[in-house]
Amino acid sequence: MSSLDIQAQASLQDLNSLALPASAEYFCAVTSVEEIQQALAFAKANSLQVTPLGGGSNMVMAGDIKGLVVQLNLRGISSAAAKNNQVEVTFAAGENWHQMVQHCIQQGWYGLENLSLIPGNMGAAPIQNIGAYGVELCDLFVSLQAIDIGTGETVELDREQCEFGYRDSIFKQAYRDRFLITHVCLRLFQHPQPRIEYPALAEALGDRTPTPELIGETVCRIRQQKLPDPVQLPNVGSFFKNPILPESALKRLQSDRAPHYPQADGRYKVAAAWLIDQCGFRGLSRGAVSVHEHQALVLVNNGGTGAELMALAAEIQNAVAAKFGIELEIEPRLYGTE
Ligand code: EPU
Repeated sequence: MSSLDIQAQASLQDLNSLALPASAEYFCAVTSVEEIQQALAFAKANSLQVTPLGGGSNMVMAGDIKGLVVQLNLRGISSAAAKNNQVEVTFAAGENWHQMVQHCIQQGWYGLENLSLIPGNMGAAPIQNIGAYGVELCDLFVSLQAIDIGTGETVELDREQCEFGYRDSIFKQAYRDRFLITHVCLRLFQHPQPRIEYPALAEALGDRTPTPELIGETVCRIRQQKLPDPVQLPNVGSFFKNPILPESALKRLQSDRAPHYPQADGRYKVAAAWLIDQCGFRGLSRGAVSVHEHQALVLVNNGGTGAELMALAAEIQNAVAAKFGIELEIEPRLYGTE
């Protein structure tokens, strides 16, 4: 058994898409279940808390991380025999999300097109139930495999057990910090099932035939226009969730024409970007951190610290609460705060 390379005091700055300066007390990258078991054994022997790391594109490093950070680099894709023109494909956690979307389109496995260009890796996708342009991961999700950090046992959880919601799952709630996700199985279609109801997508497509390839390209184009490339302008996508409000609260807002979308439970999802924009934050800078000029929901780091970024986030939350009476919830996970 080869021994795992575990580094002490490792910089995480290149491993989080906000490029915030932070370090891990201990760090290792794992490429197999066997290496995960070695990492867990090290953590147990040294009483260290384990923090999983994927693509680092939904993490805010507000400070250094105590314990062992485990970067999940498992690779591989396998597909089961197609049934009823549907195919179940299993992806290892370390596969890059967007590369997998493109791979699936090339294979003629459809359903992920609307989720093109989302940063990050496969293993993190179920945690926040990634979604964009009218599709969420849970729409295609079959099951996942995960290793219990406490016992080292492998478990399989199906869609119901993951308790998916809007940017939410059991991994942000009751199972927070309990598992390392190793594999994700999705059910994809062999015949295109275009989903083009999202207004910005429908508008960009116009009257062209919405093939999976065209939907994928169009989503990439819209995202590139609005959202900063994390490599050039470090960010974690939307910094806040869109608030979901009862009709009575929406009515109070409607005089201001807030963009809103009806939910299955009778409530309405309101565009947080618009609320922030109305408070005058779009394009605003505070030292080395700023609000993106084309999308007020995206905070950008130009060489600042986690503390500076969190101060800007608090300023935005206070302004939106004062103007609209709405509490914005931070969407990415905060680390290094305790
Ligand atoms: N808007 C403004 N000002 C802005 C930006 C947008 O008024 O600065 C308005 C737009 O005019 C539009 C509305 O706000 O009417 C919504 O904007 P957009 O379509 O860009 O979507 P969003 O609600 O801001 C959500 C997701 C994104 C996802 C897009 C497309 C959340 C938190 N964000 O953004 O997901 O790509 O819809 O489906 O749900 C992410 O989670 O990191 C992410 C980028």
